[in-house]
Amino acid sequence: MSLIDPASLPLLADSYPHHAAVIRHHLAAEPLLGHAALAAAARDMPPAQVERRVHDAADGAGFSHHADGRDPAEAIAAGGDDEAWIMLRGIEQLPAYRALLHRLLAELAPVIAPATGPVRDIKGFVFVSAPGTHTPFHFDAEYNILFQIAGTKVFATCPPAPPFLDLARREAYHLAGENMLSWEPGFAEAEQHHHLMPGDALFVPFAAPHRVLAGDAPSVSLSVTWQSRASRAEVEALALNPVLRRWGLPAHDPAEARGAPWLRAAASRIGQRIGLL
Ligand SMILES: [Fe+2]
Repeated sequence: MSLIDPASLPLLADSYPHHAAVIRHHLAAEPLLGHAALAAAARDMPPAQVERRVHDAADGAGFSHHADGRDPAEAIAAGGDDEAWIMLRGIEQLPAYRALLHRLLAELAPVIAPATGPVRDIKGFVFVSAPGTHTPFHFDAEYNILFQIAGTKVFATCPPAPPFLDLARREAYHLAGENMLSWEPGFAEAEQHHHLMPGDALFVPFAAPHRVLAGDAPSVSLSVTWQSRASRAEVEALALNPVLRRWGLPAHDPAEARGAPWLRAAASRIGQRIGLL
């Protein structure tokens, strides 16, 4: 049986890569995404890649790691943690999960490849969220499909442009890895709210800022992320910006650019090779 509902592919094709879209999947019965298998996965992964954080933080500053010593694997085996958000980061390092991610992307390839070319840097993240978990406003520099497996979520997205995401925040992310964003109440008017049930999956456009609220039941989601040749070029072009500013030249701003910055990316790679960046 296919993992993605074939009827969803034309829906995704209408939106990809610039707009969010909800599609349907058949992963609910996938044993790898049950609590027993996920607990085993959490034990097999390096401890630093199994994060357990505060589930009801108001903002990025409060979204900190728990320090009570509770074992995330035990909590997952028990059906989830009432007071934590647990993330398995980089689940593609486990061969069975890597195969699952590749199966999913192979089914999506007829939509993805014509628009953004072959997928690169495939990664997987599993989120086991307590009821009511709030993931504060942030962005991720990747294409993402979040598959809702158990429980519900309201996933709110904003456009990847100012005032939600500005050039300084993009550059800071690529320099220091910080992806949390400041939330302004006025942003709510621009949000698109996606109500996800088990069997739903949401495509999140590259760098689209978002915040997520889990429903009243324990939630399990799988995020599959990837890059394209163009998204890699964006990252390379952003790395060149500080040097261009020092020289009084215009910086690259993805929100204003038309098309991928191939020349800037090539210059950035040369700059890295000769130690300029
Ligand atoms: Fe995210």
